This record gives sequence, C-alpha cells and structure tokens, in this order.
Amino acid sequence: MKPIAELGDLRGKRVLVRSDLNVPLDGGTITDDGRIRASVPTLEALSDAGARVVVCAHLGRPKGAPEERYSLAPVADRLGELLGRDVVLAPDTVGEGAREAVAAMGDGDVVLLENLRFNPGETSKDDGERAAFAGQLAGLADAYVSDGFGVVHRKQASVYDVARLLPSAVGGLVEAEVDVLRRLTHDPERPYAVVLGGAKVSDKLAVIDNLLQTADRLLVGGGMVFTFLKAQGHEVGRSLLEEDQVDAVRGYLSQAQERGVEIVLPVDVVAATEFSAGAEHDVVPADGIPADRIGVDIGPESSRLFAERLQDCRTVFWNGPMGAFEMEPYAAGTAAVARALVDVTARGGLTVVGGGDSAAAVRQLGFSESDFGHISTGGGASLEYLEGKELPGLTVLEEAR
Ligand code: 3PG
Repeated sequence: MKPIAELGDLRGKRVLVRSDLNVPLDGGTITDDGRIRASVPTLEALSDAGARVVVCAHLGRPKGAPEERYSLAPVADRLGELLGRDVVLAPDTVGEGAREAVAAMGDGDVVLLENLRFNPGETSKDDGERAAFAGQLAGLADAYVSDGFGVVHRKQASVYDVARLLPSAVGGLVEAEVDVLRRLTHDPERPYAVVLGGAKVSDKLAVIDNLLQTADRLLVGGGMVFTFLKAQGHEVGRSLLEEDQVDAVRGYLSQAQERGVEIVLPVDVVAATEFSAGAEHDVVPADGIPADRIGVDIGPESSRLFAERLQDCRTVFWNGPMGAFEMEPYAAGTAAVARALVDVTARGGLTVVGGGDSAAAVRQLGFSESDFGHISTGGGASLEYLEGKELPGLTVLEEAR
C-alpha cells in the first residue's frame, strides 16, 4: 500500500479523505468522540502540507436519502474543535453545495461532505450504481486517501470504487491498525488470549472459528455468554440467548478441547429482575440463574478468574463488553477486564481493544488510551481481519495506482 508521502507535493491539491467518523450520538450530542480524535492526525498532516482536505464519512445507516438525525453537523463541529480550525460542512455529498464548498477552499482548508449514505450509490450492491457515485466523489478531488479503518471491510463507493479512479494512498490510521492486527495474526507472542463479549454470538462465529486455530485461551462474557452456558447444559433464565446457535457453540467447545484451547466462562453472574439500572440484582452462580432473572454482567468471582487467566499473557485481544457497562451497577466485569489488560500492558505485553463498544467502554470507565497497546477504531473490520477475510478497502489499496 502506498503511503501518503508517495502522492507527491500536495500543496493546492484537493485530497479526498475517507474517514470513519461514525460516532455514537445521544440526540445531537456525541457520547464518544474516539473515532474523530483518531482521524485528526492524518487530516492535520494533510492540511499542514497545504492540501485542500475534502473529508467524506458516514453516520449511522440512513437508507440512501437525507435524514436530519443522521447529519454530520455535530461531527463537523467536534472535528473543527479538535483541529483548531474551521471545518465547513457541505450541505450535500456530491451536489452543487459540495461542489461550491470545494471550489471555495484555500490551501490547508478542511471541508466535510454531508453523510455519504444520504446517496444510494454509496452502499449499492450494483457495481454500476456504486461506480457512478464514486465518479462524482472523484470529481471533487485530485487524490484519495483511505483512512477510515472501521469501514475497510465494506465494498462501498467511498471505500473501494473511488480508490480505482484517483491516485490513492493509505492513511496513517489504517496503516497503524493493520500493523497491529498483523502482529495478532502472524506469530503472536504467547500465551495469547482473546476476550470476547458483546451481545450476539452469531456476529462472532466466524472469528471464534479462526481463533480456535490461533489463540491459547478464549475468555467469554457479555450477552453472548448465555448461549455458551446453555450449550453446557445450564439454564439461563430470561438472559439473552440465541437458541439457534447453541449447537454451533457446543461444536466450538468440543473443538477447543481437542485443540487444547482453554475456554474460560464466568462462574458467577449478576442477575437482575429487569434490564435497567434500578432493577433488583444479585450475584448468582453461572449454573444457577433463576428462571425470572436476566444476566447483566459477569460476577466478582468471574472477574477474579478472568484477571487471573490474563495475568501471564503476552498478547491479548479484547472485543465486546462483559456486561451492560453503560449502566453503572453492571460495569464491574468490563472494568475488571480493562484493568487486567492495563496490567498486561504494564508488563510489556501487547493489548488490543477492538470494537466500538469496548473502546467506548474503556474511555467511559475512565481508563487512559495509553494504558493499552492499541485501541482499534474498527469493530467489524478488526473482527473480519482476524477471521482472515479479504477486506475490499485494503485489497483495492494494494492494487492502487
Ligand atoms: C462501524 O461502526 O463499525 C463502522 O463505522 C461501519 O459502520 P457500518 O457497520 O454501518 O458499515
């Protein structure tokens, strides 16, 4: 992949940058700006080099037409604050408003195009429709930089097709992310543990399959763990359960045993009467969840067990919170795993936090980013990388002119 330096002198050139600025919002308020902050260094470097920086990004999943609640306006404001300069939000993506905003740029200026997904061409499965939209995007620029790691697994116009139309380079964020993930997949220092959490086991099946070939230990928490407990024959009350995945999980448990991969599951669980912060809740054994209760976090014994099984690790990848951490009473398990990773980092091991939710969790729980080896901006993208899948946004850069 060609680095930005190989694009030559960028002064006065219009550079289209695909960033991943897909941040969580509560109304118009950004609740975690990690992805915006991670995007700043590349944009800053381009602006300092005198480029006219045309940033494009998506927010949420609008269905190919403008929707006020998915406007990038709050993101433009925050990006401007972080860059310490005005960021003009174009009123559309490739229309007259965008063309005018780009035409009015001076060297070093930054314009953010409105949400890419307001246009059906961005995510279209039809190659022609996508290419047409990519052509309009390419018309706004002289060169392209791919810096949205969180979207490199998407074969979308602004990620894939446009890179075939303009001189293209890889941004520093994508470079750094790929570098770390390569260390996880190519001969990781051992013991290598993976901690998986989050709601759905079905989202993680492919990665589990792959990890059983590479990891030494797999620690499982979060909503997905109840499917594991069920597969072991335990009742899980009203906890999240993917009944149709129980057999697959059972298969993984026996595969792990054959391969000598240690699977660590919680031994106790915080079980609540309702899925709400104020609900009555108790710690119960993982094999004794009452029929009327919902598992909302791993319990204190499990936190100790997980920390103990991470203690001697040289490499840890963590994706997905251990419980409903956004509710204070159920954040302890996630915090305990974060602390265990901090200890591994302090002992010189490589720790990688992947996925929007776990990254948001460590920041929300007050950990410092520097306590971890790497906090990935890509959830789905980092999982697909670990699954060994081809990521279109990277492949196209490898082939770029
Ligand atoms: C993400 O949030 O993981 C990325 O921004 C990709 O978003 P998407 O899953 O809507 O394509």
